[in-house]
Amino acid sequence: MNPDRQHMTRRQVAAGIGASMAVLATASGRAQQTTEYVDGWRILRARPGQTRLRGADIGPTAISGYNGVTPGPTLRIRRGEELRVRLVNELRDPTTLHWHGLRLPNAMDGVPHLTQPPIAPGASFDYRFVAPDAGTFWYHAHFMSSEQVGRGLYGPLIVDETTPLPIDRDVTLVLDDWRLTADGTIAPFGGMHDAAHAGRIGNHLTVNGAPSADIAVKANERIRLRLINAANARVMPVRIEGHRANVMAIDGQPAEPFPARDGLVVLGPGNRIDLFIDATLAPGTRAPFLTLVDGNIPLARISYDAGTPARGAILPAAEPLPANPLPTRMDLAGSLKFDLPLDGGMTMMMRGGMMGAMTGRGPASNPAQPASIWTIANTASDGHSGAPLFTVARGRTVTLALNNRTEFTHAVHLHGHHFRLLDRLDDGWKPFWLDSIVVPARQTARIAFVADNPGKWMIHCHMLEHQESGMAAWFAVG
Ligand code: C2O
Ligand code: CU
Repeated sequence: MNPDRQHMTRRQVAAGIGASMAVLATASGRAQQTTEYVDGWRILRARPGQTRLRGADIGPTAISGYNGVTPGPTLRIRRGEELRVRLVNELRDPTTLHWHGLRLPNAMDGVPHLTQPPIAPGASFDYRFVAPDAGTFWYHAHFMSSEQVGRGLYGPLIVDETTPLPIDRDVTLVLDDWRLTADGTIAPFGGMHDAAHAGRIGNHLTVNGAPSADIAVKANERIRLRLINAANARVMPVRIEGHRANVMAIDGQPAEPFPARDGLVVLGPGNRIDLFIDATLAPGTRAPFLTLVDGNIPLARISYDAGTPARGAILPAAEPLPANPLPTRMDLAGSLKFDLPLDGGMTMMMRGGMMGAMTGRGPASNPAQPASIWTIANTASDGHSGAPLFTVARGRTVTLALNNRTEFTHAVHLHGHHFRLLDRLDDGWKPFWLDSIVVPARQTARIAFVADNPGKWMIHCHMLEHQESGMAAWFAVG
């Protein structure tokens, strides 16, 4: 037990959110973190630890985390700068580290067997790349993903714009969904039910590793709120309460700004959303701020300083975020087109179609998982062995029809690229980019991207139990 904890009041805990990492660390009952560098490498240790997922006053939960905490430390660099991280594996299992949403060189993508060998217990791996895009990203384990991410191996990666933006508070909220037993222990992983249904849906939500967050502001400030859904499987519709919220970026990439209608935004597993919110309530106000719509679960409160407002009035409407160097044109007419039916699940197994596959081995990356339950383009895969889904010449536009034929939602994530969501009836696209897309049951999403990043890239369901039971594949950009 951290001796500092006993002397912390609820208000002090509250004040920590949105302040420095050191205070954040204390707010969720962790030991204070020091940043470790060796020879210019930032050290991240994947190791067991303890976090007070159920609140400051309830005993800690044994987790796995980077530097022993969950979420792991916020990594922060400026666009165009190089990130150098040495991942030290202090777990009992192999691991790798994936930089979700980063358009980085293939060798740094952290996919076991496809881009690097798994990092054995006791070994380390150096990740080094220049961040091409400013925005909100995250990093997470990519080996036995259901269990490793599910035990807490993830953290935020913030890439700052080259010139600072006119905002007063930059607040990152990492949302997660845990399945805890009555004594607060993480429930065991694996098992057929989660894999064959909606994935591992939990019973305990956390915000930055605690049951809720409290955001301290001054009246008339502008807040940049960065939401990250780190849950294994839960799609999170959330509502900003009592304030107008403008969506500024999705999945790390600037969007044409638009107001969140009724304050609502939806994050599938892996998604990020950046919002600008002006603090328009009166000094001294304490009010609900962020709610999970399903079950009306409060996730964050806002606390206004009782003193003078930060300025006489709120700032004028924000300009769009500065553009990242994404492809400026996409040749839809001349694109390579593929149909990727998403199939499988309990319904299909009951029809008998998948029974043969059920006797097979589980994916090599996690033999504990049930065997092939789900397919992409009629193939169940671990996402690295077997033939690529397709091979495409560098620079070519690719259009994919993600046709969800199942009774469950899937959240399809494309590595190494961002894509456009195509309109239904014409050849246009939505005014934002994504790296992960929620495809509801029985619906089709058409996406397009320029395959401009050479290498072997995974495409998989980010419902990690689906990924590990077949809904994974890879493609090659030559
Ligand atoms: Cu966020 Cu392949 O994963
Ligand atoms: Cu899925």
